[in-house]
Amino acid sequence: MAKDAKAASTASAYTYVDHKFDVVVVGAGGAGLRATLGMAEQGLRTACITKVFPTRSHTVAAQGGIAASLSNMGPDSWQWHMYDTVKGSDWLGDVDAMEYLVREAPAAVYELEHYGVPFSRTEEGKIYQRPFGGHMMNFGEGPPVQRTCAAADRTGHAILHTLYGQSLKNNAQFFIEYFALDLIMEPDGTCTGVVAWNLDDGTIHRFSAKMVVLATGGYGRAYFSATSAHTCTGDGGGMAARAGLPLQDMEFVQFHPTGIYGAGCLITEGARGEGGYLVNSEGERFMERYAPSAKDLASRDVVSRCMTLEIREGRGVGKNKDHIFLHLDHLDPAVLHERLPGISESAKIFAGVDLTKEPIPVLPTVHYNMGGVPTNYWGEVLNPTATSPDKVSPGLMAVGEAGCASVHGANRLGSNSLIDLVVFGRAAAIRAGQVIDRKAAISAPNEASVEKIMGRFDRLRHANGSTPTAVLREKMQKAMQDDAAVFRTQESLENGCKRISQIWGELKDIKVYDRSMIWNSDLVETLELENLMANAITTVYGAEARKESRGAHAREDFSARDDATWRKHTLSRLSEDGNVTLSYRPVHTEPLLAEKDGGINLAKIAPKARVY
Ligand code: FUM
Repeated sequence: MAKDAKAASTASAYTYVDHKFDVVVVGAGGAGLRATLGMAEQGLRTACITKVFPTRSHTVAAQGGIAASLSNMGPDSWQWHMYDTVKGSDWLGDVDAMEYLVREAPAAVYELEHYGVPFSRTEEGKIYQRPFGGHMMNFGEGPPVQRTCAAADRTGHAILHTLYGQSLKNNAQFFIEYFALDLIMEPDGTCTGVVAWNLDDGTIHRFSAKMVVLATGGYGRAYFSATSAHTCTGDGGGMAARAGLPLQDMEFVQFHPTGIYGAGCLITEGARGEGGYLVNSEGERFMERYAPSAKDLASRDVVSRCMTLEIREGRGVGKNKDHIFLHLDHLDPAVLHERLPGISESAKIFAGVDLTKEPIPVLPTVHYNMGGVPTNYWGEVLNPTATSPDKVSPGLMAVGEAGCASVHGANRLGSNSLIDLVVFGRAAAIRAGQVIDRKAAISAPNEASVEKIMGRFDRLRHANGSTPTAVLREKMQKAMQDDAAVFRTQESLENGCKRISQIWGELKDIKVYDRSMIWNSDLVETLELENLMANAITTVYGAEARKESRGAHAREDFSARDDATWRKHTLSRLSEDGNVTLSYRPVHTEPLLAEKDGGINLAKIAPKARVY
């Protein structure tokens, strides 16, 4: 793709270190570590490759908690949790996957407790649970239910450290600060491994495996302002797209209502769960007007839109009237200290605010990608055809934010992400244990596939155009921020498609300054930019095509949800020259359990207007 300054360089100029494992997991966030642990516990020879030290993965930033109907603080049930998740998804989620998630959630949380996660406790010593947006009692009737299990406001941190320790205890082998370049694919579409670059000593490694699991997280950094770490560059989506696989429902990008104004850092929804509220420049608690029942604890897409409307209509706060205030200063400082110590620090550092005395300036900020590599609820990657919409792509799984099961549909509920990571990380391990033939030999890496992977790597390493990576990345981020935002129109989306396609063309002119193989962050960021671009381009094209509003995809020109035409998943396939081809596959509407066997009453989750 990029100009090659060193024509003599060829893929065969590289030497390789070869490895064989039953399973290779790419990524060491919550989903990657839970999958790694589950595989290793079963005695599968398991490697986990990660570009950052495991406990620095972005899950470490997850604050408010993990949803499960434990009923520790009052009545709750998996059926209520399912209803909220279906409604939150705006009826785009797959019903079988959502049922699997909510039914398995309590066991998955107790398992975490037994592994050693230091949850906050109630007076009686039970796991503490707080309210979160969109989680209600009694099939949405309310009031808000306390379902989100928390370790203060550092829940992801606690989970990550525990799962890493457990994985080491079970002899999983970690390859830390290795950057996964691409999937090794057979001509018949079977994935047989991954090629990775050891950033520390410059060696190239070929990992052959019976199963590869993509657990690479989201692509928040395709946008200019995101709560995501700089490492959230959609590497799994990039690898899958280059392997000829589709990405699913990419147009659904979640904006978290409370990113700190300017810095973008997350202020957990747990803040509103503990009693915080939003106000406009008139001091009005405006959410009471938009969502009379759930108020500040309406679903995130709803709250983000209401905040944006308040700002647009001139009721934003601050000199430029371009943000909103979040008040916590009415709460007991002891509660803030005990339940929200992390955001107390963040507010001080990033907004200069003492939240016991002043409101925090906040703004909706990109937070989560509902779309990703399509999978079934066992984490197996799908490569759908017109006649076989659930066709499995052999040898490959995807879990966590990199995957799309799809449990979040068009909008994810807060605290349903951490539970997704552990439930589906665990499900992938269970499934791998069933499908992997332990006695079978592990095949040698496909030379043609490796040659192609290294050809791309070498081209980028020697890219000698005139556009520095950082310049092109910022152009992409600004285009996504402007044109694929909280509210969208045909004009903004057509403009977005045009801008992102043009930037795709400019990848040919990229300039990499550093040719070395050791800690070459210039080259890492260029590889990441290509991954981000694969995610960004499929996002804008999918969004332009979808002529309705659903969940996080809010079109001003098509403001209603249109179930008759659009209750279906978007599949985007990307060619090497940046052409996006769209097709669609049906939403799964059948639950796993029949009502007579204790399953949910289907009438309860039939599509209807989504009001909070
Ligand atoms: O607000 C938060 O603590 C974020 C949680 C989530 O995205 O699930």
